[in-house]
Amino acid sequence: MPLSQGLSLEVRPLTASDAESCDQIILSLPHYFGHEVGRLACAQAVRTSDGWVAVLGEHVVGFLTVEPHFATTLEITWMAVHADYRGQGIGRQLMSRLQQEAQIRGYRLLLVATLSPSVDDEGYAARRAFYQAVGLLPLQEVPLYWGVGSQPALLLVMPL
Ligand SMILES: CC(C)(COP(=O)(O)OP(=O)(O)OC[C@H]1O[C@@H](n2cnc3c(N)ncnc32)[C@H](O)[C@@H]1OP(=O)(O)O)[C@@H](O)C(=O)NCCC(=O)NCCS
Repeated sequence: MPLSQGLSLEVRPLTASDAESCDQIILSLPHYFGHEVGRLACAQAVRTSDGWVAVLGEHVVGFLTVEPHFATTLEITWMAVHADYRGQGIGRQLMSRLQQEAQIRGYRLLLVATLSPSVDDEGYAARRAFYQAVGLLPLQEVPLYWGVGSQPALLLVMPL
């Protein structure tokens, strides 16, 4: 769905009342969030973590959540833009706001972990392309990052 000319996009902090809208965004992306365990973890994160939402008119159309590591590093734990609104710059605006807020709070690095390119998966290739397009740099591939039997992760970072 193209962004409506009359409505402006606002990025603001995630609040408890946004949680169900975030759940709906995840449900709009079954190809990317196909596992119940992941959906539950994301549902938990939007209810407990810091984050930001992109709001179009009165509708939340995208979000991201973060977790701090030490005083230096902020990890993007979950991020999604509603299927109807992908590819129109909303993810880039969320990232831009995150960078500003992370700098204001004194963080020095943004971190994200995603599936390694050594695993052939079209959806994850698109995520990696997005993260790199908005300025994250590949740091290291880590086998078993998510535990025994898990697939290898690619860690990406962005100095702030
Ligand atoms: C990944 C995601 C958050 C990106 O948000 P978005 O609003 O669609 O992305 P944007 O339109 O802001 O794209 C920003 C840049 O990323 C790149 N990009 C975005 N989607 C891409 C794709 N599927 N393939 C290649 N590059 C892509 C574009 O080059 C774009 O650069 P441009 O501004 O120069 O055109 C969103 O598409 C999404 O929710 N995907 C499914 C869930 C997911 O993968 N979440 C992330 C991991 S939890």
